Amino acid sequence: WVAHPGDTITVNFTNKLGEPTNLHTHGLHVSPAGNSDNVFIEVQDGETVQYRYVLGADHPTGVYWYHPHHHGMAADQVFGGLYGALIVEEPTPLAVNSERVLVISDITLQSNGSVAAMTDMNKLMGREGALMLLNGQVSPNYESASGAIERWRIVNACTSRYLSLSIPGGSAQILGMDSGQFTPPAPLSSITLAPGNRADLLVTIGTTPATLAYTTVPHRDMKGMGATATNYTDYPLATFTPHGTAAPVALGAIARHPGPNLRNVTVTAKRSFKLAMPAGMGGMGGLNGQFTINGVPFEMNTVNTTVSLGTVEEWTIMNTTTMDHPFHLHVWPMQVLTSGTTSFEGVHYRDVVNVPANSQAIVRVHFNEFPGQAVYHCHILDHEDLGMMGIIEAK
Ligand code: C2O
Ligand code: CU
Ligand code: CU
Repeated sequence: WVAHPGDTITVNFTNKLGEPTNLHTHGLHVSPAGNSDNVFIEVQDGETVQYRYVLGADHPTGVYWYHPHHHGMAADQVFGGLYGALIVEEPTPLAVNSERVLVISDITLQSNGSVAAMTDMNKLMGREGALMLLNGQVSPNYESASGAIERWRIVNACTSRYLSLSIPGGSAQILGMDSGQFTPPAPLSSITLAPGNRADLLVTIGTTPATLAYTTVPHRDMKGMGATATNYTDYPLATFTPHGTAAPVALGAIARHPGPNLRNVTVTAKRSFKLAMPAGMGGMGGLNGQFTINGVPFEMNTVNTTVSLGTVEEWTIMNTTTMDHPFHLHVWPMQVLTSGTTSFEGVHYRDVVNVPANSQAIVRVHFNEFPGQAVYHCHILDHEDLGMMGIIEAK
């Protein structure tokens, strides 16, 4: 989908899955109520629901995405292939040689072509598919031109996999991550996208083929722990081969809007959120409800956090487990202050923030508008389905 600030997006959504589902617009700063970005809507098999998303005139431009968000089924439905990119474009897009949307995912297929079922161990560690896909294909080839300046909008739609990405054969600048924009755009050698993160890149192609290359992130991709045991080093997710020479383009000034700096404002509340998971496979009851935030699993109709509209809060997200968890908040972007030992100078907004193992992340959030109930959760979607999610109400 391509939209612009100030647009209204109307979606006629029909469920033919044979099981309940729904739709979430990941990262959009829109109302969580009614038929907007309301993940409490349940669309039954055979039903049609009309969603309507109203983007403010000041909605941040950037790379977003959409996917199902039915509690208990999100991981299976996303793993099976239900997701897409959503671009909120600048009124005057950059004059590049080409624009590409590159959606990265993984999946495991059985020999009959159906999606493989996951074991409890896969869910515990975060499932990883045996196939890496880019726009639904294995290692596709794209045509480019030498000297081409391209805009790559990349989505990490993997259910659990962290992606370390680099571009051998090309050079890149980063324009933004999630709804956050970089001023000025920074040169980039590699970038790590947690599940759910997006990146907006300007890439210059050289005279030889360039690749978008994926490398396993140690300790985040839980290899050998029940997930797929393949380690990747510079695996070519896609190859971009120059044919001829690119027409010269004049990029002009790149307008970037990093968003308000909440670093020195007075916060109304400081809260902490403690992420926890079972150390092993759990007992007779299985894993369901064993993943928690502040000691409790997600429960429909239980509001865990109430915030006041118009206020700024500081949240410390604590991870007492031995694996990283990507923490995601709907509707309101988080300004990241720290993640583990990394402290973020300047203004960096994200909607998925990595919380490293046995460490924490600190963010600030301005609940500037939109009364209603939304959620925050781990974006390893199996963890979300198993309880690592809470309800936030803004009023
Ligand atoms: Cu991308 Cu609550 O999800
Ligand atoms: Cu989301
Ligand atoms: Cu998690």
